Amino acid sequence: MIRAALVVGALLLGATAVTAQQDLVKQNQDTMKANAKNLGAMVAMVKGEKPYDQATVTAGLAQLEETAKKLPTMFPDSIKGMNPPDSKYEVSPKIWEDKAEFRAKIEDFAKVVSAAKAKITDLDTLKANAPAIGKACGNCHETFRIKKS
Ligand code: HEC
Repeated sequence: MIRAALVVGALLLGATAVTAQQDLVKQNQDTMKANAKNLGAMVAMVKGEKPYDQATVTAGLAQLEETAKKLPTMFPDSIKGMNPPDSKYEVSPKIWEDKAEFRAKIEDFAKVVSAAKAKITDLDTLKANAPAIGKACGNCHETFRIKKS
């Protein structure tokens, strides 16, 4: 009886860990989608599809800054090999194989975002600084994200 309870307990613990890992994978995907939404809103202003709106820019940059802070702990070893089930993209195993390089991409992204935050006050400064943000996203994706074929 006690033995059975222990086994059930262990199974439940295992299930909780798996759920936590799946939650993290999902949260990571949501973070990336929010990045795309916020950078996309800025790009729409740069292209003249939307009028310049400081509040949108400020909120967007704050979320990107949050992402930069979260990135170092977004991909722990416990989610190695796990991918969002409904995505066109996968996480490259290089994230766990070359942690120094991943860290460098995060630091580069963080620097670019805080520099942009300090400089963007109007449409001209947005035009001058938004492309570098997109480039920093792309730089990480190039090495650490895989497009599913
Ligand atoms: C340091 C690395 C890194 C940086 C910086 C980064 N990403 Fe990502 N991104 C990833 C990885 C890894 C994935 C694949 C795993 C995932 O979706 O969680 C991903 C996935 C995505 C996806 C696909 C999400 C989906 O629908 O499944 C989008 C969109 C995205 N990123 C946008 C961005 C944008 C926009 C920025 C910059 C503002 C950015 N990312 C910055 C690493 C990064």
